[in-house]
Amino acid sequence: MRGIILSGGSGTRLRPLTNVTSKQLLPVYNKPMIYYPLNTLLKASIREILIIVAPERAGDYLNLLGSGSRFGAKFTYEIQDKPNGLPEAFVIGQNFIDKENVALILGDNLFENDFTKDIKAFTKGAKVFAKRVPDPGRSGVVKFNAKKKVELIVEKPKKWISDYALVGFYLYDCRVVEVAKNLKPSTRGETEIVDLHNWYLKHHELEVGIIKGKWRDAGTIESYFEAQIMAKEKLHKQLII
Ligand code: G1P
Repeated sequence: MRGIILSGGSGTRLRPLTNVTSKQLLPVYNKPMIYYPLNTLLKASIREILIIVAPERAGDYLNLLGSGSRFGAKFTYEIQDKPNGLPEAFVIGQNFIDKENVALILGDNLFENDFTKDIKAFTKGAKVFAKRVPDPGRSGVVKFNAKKKVELIVEKPKKWISDYALVGFYLYDCRVVEVAKNLKPSTRGETEIVDLHNWYLKHHELEVGIIKGKWRDAGTIESYFEAQIMAKEKLHKQLII
């Protein structure tokens, strides 16, 4: 299993903080934000990691993280020129992924969960993870039917459909590269990760796991603030880096 940390974007919702650095390099308690998703991958024994960054801050990532040898890992870097959508990570990462399975984690997502078992058990298809939240409209959302099977997946639905948000950690087999290449941008001008999930759902190869531990997407000022509290109270003791 290879790992990708998507750490691009311009962090517009965190301005003016992001006028001077990348969102995923901002401090979260006592570490740069990206340490938390990196920790999640390393804890799950993923050692080959592609870090995708925006061009303006690429040098800062290299300075901070280097080759990965300090962490017992091997890091590769790629640039995402523009925030064209999360699925572009698989197009950019095509050579890196090759014929392997891949775990994508978003550089602004903090997890208490340990995904080791899910990664070990994963063979093919796609597995995504959901969590019951009070504010599902801010995320991709999954609706289950009465038999607990996935019925519908929608990106940031305007009308409530379910309390289950899709978190920023995803497992796919290598077909994801070709599927990502063929996606069309949504009305907001970006390709959407839920369209990847929907492709696997249509082919009956999508599994959804429910996570129990705490989760935060630190992309807005409120959630960034909450992420700091979560890091102080929960995550900081379980960091292995
Ligand atoms: C992205 C995804 C969304 C997912 C979320 C998790 O949204 O598009 O489906 O639920 O990450 O953090 P963003 O936060 O980039 O708007």
